[in-house]
Amino acid sequence: MRGKLMVGNWKMNGSLAANAALLSDILAGMGELSCRAAVCVPAPYLAQAQRLLSGSALWLGAQDVSAHDAGAYTGEVSADMLRDFAVRYCIVGHSERRQYHGETDAQVAAKVQRALSAGITPIVCLGESLSEREAGLTEAVVKRQLAAVIQANGHCISEIVVAYEPVWAIGTGLTASPDQAQQVHAVLRAQLRAASAHAERVPIVYGGSMGAANAADLLAQPDVDGGLIGGAALRATEFLSLLTTASC
Ligand code: PGA
Repeated sequence: MRGKLMVGNWKMNGSLAANAALLSDILAGMGELSCRAAVCVPAPYLAQAQRLLSGSALWLGAQDVSAHDAGAYTGEVSADMLRDFAVRYCIVGHSERRQYHGETDAQVAAKVQRALSAGITPIVCLGESLSEREAGLTEAVVKRQLAAVIQANGHCISEIVVAYEPVWAIGTGLTASPDQAQQVHAVLRAQLRAASAHAERVPIVYGGSMGAANAADLLAQPDVDGGLIGGAALRATEFLSLLTTASC
């Protein structure tokens, strides 16, 4: 019903030459997709990626957006600027932004608003740290993070994508088990249902060391609607194999 959504998060990786090679390998191997797919590239490469992806089934995404519309915010990139490059998705509130840049739930909610008002689908990242999981706080943490976004965005909430990314699984090689992921996704689905009559159409994707070895089991869970993929998205063969798994 929702179909799968597979999104590569390149993080701060790439160069003009490396991006061209990676995208050309992905596009050459992609064939017909029966899932939706996107790559979120570093901001300086949006123009390059827009050109290379034009006419393809792979959507363009960004990794962050400013919480402000325009003005004296040195170094920031606005939602309207992203729209100039036909950006379709934007990651918001990634744990690396929350952790290294002190992004709060309120800032994340404001960024979601900016993206939505520019017609860009925000991919809202949520997830608990290892110490929060060990303290039994997983549910409380992700619910608090999602509640801030719901509160600020009201009925528009059905237009977002949610990415559950346990912080302890990102880039570590540790993955949430399919049961652990499903459990949290079901909690998030229930929270979305309570907030919107259209909650069923919100994709809830999983992120955190997703790769060829674990994707099929994760994607088989009823509330896992796709993946947000870091490391494996930088290798064309592995990314393509994930797209194939999601298309089954
Ligand atoms: P990873 O990153 O797949 O390398 O764990 C996922 C993410 O941070 O979005």
